[in-house]
Amino acid sequence: MARIPDAFIDDLLARSDIVEIIGARVPLKRQGKEYSARCPFHDERSPSFTVSPTKQFYHCFGCGAHGTAISFLMNYDRLEFLDAVEELAKRVGMEVPRDTQQRNVNPDSADLYNAVEAASKFFQKQLAGSDKARAYLDGRGVGEAIRAQFGIGYAPDGFNALRDALGTDPRRMSLLERAGLFSRNDSGRVYDKFRDRVMFPIHDRRGRTIAFGGRVLSASDNGRDAGPKYLNSPETALFHKGRELYGLWQVRQAHNKIDKLVVVEGYMDVIALFEHGVDCAVATLGTATTPDHAELLFRNAPDVYFCFDGDRAGRGAAWKAVESVLPRMKDGRQAFFLFLPEGEDPDSLVRSEGRDGFDVRLRDATPLSQFFFDSLSGDVNLGTLEGKGRLAERAKPLLAQIPDGAFGDLMKQRLTELTGVGARTSSPETHVPTQRARAASGTPAPKRSVVRSAISLLLQQPALALESRPPFRFAGLRQPGVPLLIELLQLVQHRPDIGTGSLIEHFAEREEQAALYKLAAQTLPGDEGAWRSEFIDAMTQLDRQTLQQRLEELQSKQRESGLDDTDKAELRGLLQSRFA
Ligand code: UTP
Ligand code: MN
Repeated sequence: MARIPDAFIDDLLARSDIVEIIGARVPLKRQGKEYSARCPFHDERSPSFTVSPTKQFYHCFGCGAHGTAISFLMNYDRLEFLDAVEELAKRVGMEVPRDTQQRNVNPDSADLYNAVEAASKFFQKQLAGSDKARAYLDGRGVGEAIRAQFGIGYAPDGFNALRDALGTDPRRMSLLERAGLFSRNDSGRVYDKFRDRVMFPIHDRRGRTIAFGGRVLSASDNGRDAGPKYLNSPETALFHKGRELYGLWQVRQAHNKIDKLVVVEGYMDVIALFEHGVDCAVATLGTATTPDHAELLFRNAPDVYFCFDGDRAGRGAAWKAVESVLPRMKDGRQAFFLFLPEGEDPDSLVRSEGRDGFDVRLRDATPLSQFFFDSLSGDVNLGTLEGKGRLAERAKPLLAQIPDGAFGDLMKQRLTELTGVGARTSSPETHVPTQRARAASGTPAPKRSVVRSAISLLLQQPALALESRPPFRFAGLRQPGVPLLIELLQLVQHRPDIGTGSLIEHFAEREEQAALYKLAAQTLPGDEGAWRSEFIDAMTQLDRQTLQQRLEELQSKQRESGLDDTDKAELRGLLQSRFA
C-alpha cells in the first residue's frame, strides 16, 4: 500500500476532534479534562473507556483498546486505514495526497472494476440460461436467494463466450485480460480462461467484484480433462489471494456488529453455512491463514473460529493459523479451533447436522490456549525436567509475540504452571521499562527509572522534547528504553506541533505501541510548569548517568590494562565536570 506522508496524518489528526468523532457514535460523559464511556470494544458495566481531547486519543483501561481518531474509525466503523483517513479528511476539508489515494492500482482502476463487474453480470445471466448449471446447484442445495446473495454465475463451454460478449472493444478486452479472465495460447490467441464452470465471484470489502473461482460441474468429466476442480483468478492489481476472505462482504451485509467469524476452506463451505443460517462464515480459499487474514478477521470480529480437517494436514494448517494470530491476540479477542471428523467438511456437516449441530460444535471448539499447549507438548514428556525444558524453549518465543495484556500474562502463567519456568515478557531494550518487565527479565532495577519518567512526561506533552536539542549526550547510555526515548525526541524535533495520539501512531505495528498508550493514558500529577521542570531535570540526570557510565568504564580499564594519554585526559575532564 502506498504510504500517506506522516506529516499529512499528523496534520489530519491535529485538525480532527476525536471527542466529536467518538461522541457521534458512543455516548460520552465529561469527567474533568477527559471524557468517559462504557467501552464500545468489550462488554462492561462501568465505564473504563476514556477519550482525551488534549492528547487526542482514546484508551480503555479494561480491554486495552487504544488509538487515535483514525484507529477508532477503523475499529468501530470497520474501515480500512485509507478509508478512515479519507473519511476524516472529508470532515475537515483536507485532500488526501493524490498519489496515495490511488493505492497500488493503476489510474484506470475504476474501469478495471467495471470490466470485472460486467463479466460477473454476464456469468449470472448465463446461469439463468443453463439448465445443467442450475441443476448442479440444485443438486448441491444452493437456493435462489443464496445464488443472488453471492452473485453465483456460470461460464459457458467453448473458448469465446465471454470474449464474444464483452471483448469486442479492444480496451475492454485488455482490461479483462488484466483482470485474469482470459488466457493466451502459444500463438498469442486469447481465449476464455473459465469454461463450463460454476462461477463464484470474490468481493472486496466494499462489495466490488475483484476475482472469481470457477468449479467444474462434476468431479470427473468423462474422457475430457476438465482441469482442476477449482480454477481461481490469478493475482491481479485488484486481487491478492492472501489478503481477501471469501464471504466477508456478505457477512458484513448481514450484521451490524459481527460477534464471530467462522473461517473455512472452501467456497462451497461458506455457501452451505449461509444456506443453513450460519451467516458468519468466510473462506481463505484453500491457502494458509496469512497474517493479513488474521488482521482482517480480528478487525471485523472479536471471536474467530477456525475450522480444519482433523487429520495431520489439518492440524498443520491450524498451527499456521496460530502463528498468524498470536501477535494479534489483544485482550478481548478470542480464537478457537474446530477440528472436523474424518471425511467431513463444513458443507457436509451443516447439511447433515443443521445449524444447531454446527453451533454445538462451535461451542465445543478448542480454545487457542489449549491447542497451543497441546500442540507444543504433544511429543514431550512433561513428567521429566527435560520435557519441561523443551516445552519452555518452544513456547517462550511464541508467547513473546502476544501483545501486552491479560491474555499474554495468563498464557505465560500457564507455561509456568506446566514447566515451572516463567516466560520473559520480551527483550528489555525494546520495551518501555516497566517494573514488571524488569523484575521478570532479572536485570537489577536502576535506582529510579529516569528514562521511564521522561517518556511518560513526553507523552503528556510532546512539546517538552524541544527543551532538549540533539545530539543527545545520553544516547550511549546502556539502559532499557533509551533508544525509544531518543526516537520520541527526534520525532518531536521534526514535528514540533505533534499531538500525543499522532506521536504514538508513529509506532503503529510495533510492539512498543501498546505500552506507550498505557503510559500516555495515565494522569500525571502537577501542571505543565511542573512537568517542564521535571523533564529538564530528567534530561540532566540522564546526561549525568551517561558521564558516570563512561567514568566507570575508564576506571575499570585503568584497573585492567591501564590508560593511555587520551584516556587520562578524558578521565580528568569527566571528573572535573562531575564536580562542576
Ligand atoms: P476443497 O476441495 O475442500 O473444496 O477445497 P470444497 O469447497 O469442499 O469443494 P466442493 O465441495 O468439492 O465443491 C477447498 C478450497 O480450496 C481451493 C478452493 O478455494 C476450494 O474451495 N481449491 C481446491 C482450489 O483452488 N483448486 C482446487 O483444485 C481445489
Ligand atoms: Mn466440499
